Amino acid sequence: MKAIILAGGKGTRLRPLTYTGAKQLVPVANKPILWYGIEDLVAAGIVDIGIIISPETGAEVQAKTGSGERFGANITYILQDQPAGLAHAVKVAQPFLGDSPFIMYLGDNLVQSDLTIFLDEFKSKHLDALTLLCPVVNPTAFGVARIDEKGRVLQLIEKPKDPPSNLALVGVYLFNATIHGAIANIQPSARGELEITDAIQYLIEHNHNVEARQIQGWWLDTGKKDDLLEANRVILDTCLVTANDGEVDDSSQIIGRVQIGKNTKVISSIIRGPVVIGENCHIENCFIGPYSSIADEVALIHADLEHSVLLEGANVTGVRHRIVDSLIGRRAQIKEAPQRPKALRFMIGDDSQIEMIE
Ligand code: DAU
Repeated sequence: MKAIILAGGKGTRLRPLTYTGAKQLVPVANKPILWYGIEDLVAAGIVDIGIIISPETGAEVQAKTGSGERFGANITYILQDQPAGLAHAVKVAQPFLGDSPFIMYLGDNLVQSDLTIFLDEFKSKHLDALTLLCPVVNPTAFGVARIDEKGRVLQLIEKPKDPPSNLALVGVYLFNATIHGAIANIQPSARGELEITDAIQYLIEHNHNVEARQIQGWWLDTGKKDDLLEANRVILDTCLVTANDGEVDDSSQIIGRVQIGKNTKVISSIIRGPVVIGENCHIENCFIGPYSSIADEVALIHADLEHSVLLEGANVTGVRHRIVDSLIGRRAQIKEAPQRPKALRFMIGDDSQIEMIE
């Protein structure tokens, strides 16, 4: 069994962060989203992993993730020259996959489910495709399945205006080599992409063995800011281990589950977990509230924040309002105005969002 993880695409919904980086490398609880997928696959015994990358962000994905050694995996990078759809990515990966059955994992998805259960079922029932489903409140944003009472898939529709059910396709699919023939027989959709849902639909219509299972744990598609913050909340809630490798002075208070990285200094601050703080950070006169993830090299001075994700090198100094529900990009700076007039001054990138109170 092999696996491919799709880490190409454009990441338009996480702009501006994705102008300068891959969306699959945006951290959740200080770890790139992509790495959770790799770890899930390795935990299920799949170590031969192909990662689909794009010309824009491929080098960054490769540099950060490496050969796979740190995960106990063998990673092959596969360039997809344009984001022409999930089925197109499978097509590009065909030389890597050969005739092997495989798992396709979307690199921006986080799934809390033991993949071995699905793998065992896929193998023992000799299925051609096994899709995973999860009930959602907004099915129009996903691929949606109509299934019969035995779990057989009757129909799959990509982002339907009028969804036949509330069962969304989770970004983890199990296939055998018959999927390649199906992909060879489909045409690009109205949005110009070769859709994996159309390829699976082709298998269904040609009487192949396609089934679906509902996952029991949580599933998060991190495509947008609020989804990412929710993923961060869930991971901090369920996985964060307390550790302090930094320096916390006597006038600071650490409450609940908090992880502090090497060379990080916490001075006169209150940190209420679950919170993860990376290495080489400077935290002074701050309140850092629950569900915050602070990456390496961040400076927070006279700041008050919660339920937020700060990326590497961000600097927040002297902000009098509490910062909540925020995603702050690499090296971004939010500072008190140093000179009169006391006014707001911005230099913000394209597609940035700022919400202000009076
Ligand atoms: O998250 C689950 C949903 O993922 C499913 O319910 C949908 O049926 C499925 O089509 C997919 O929808 P998205 O619109 O969320 O897909 P997105 O374009 O975000 O791509 C998913 C991942 O695959 C992401 O990591 C980028 C990568 N990708 C995407 C395309 C279109 C590639 O590597 N190559 C591509 O050509």
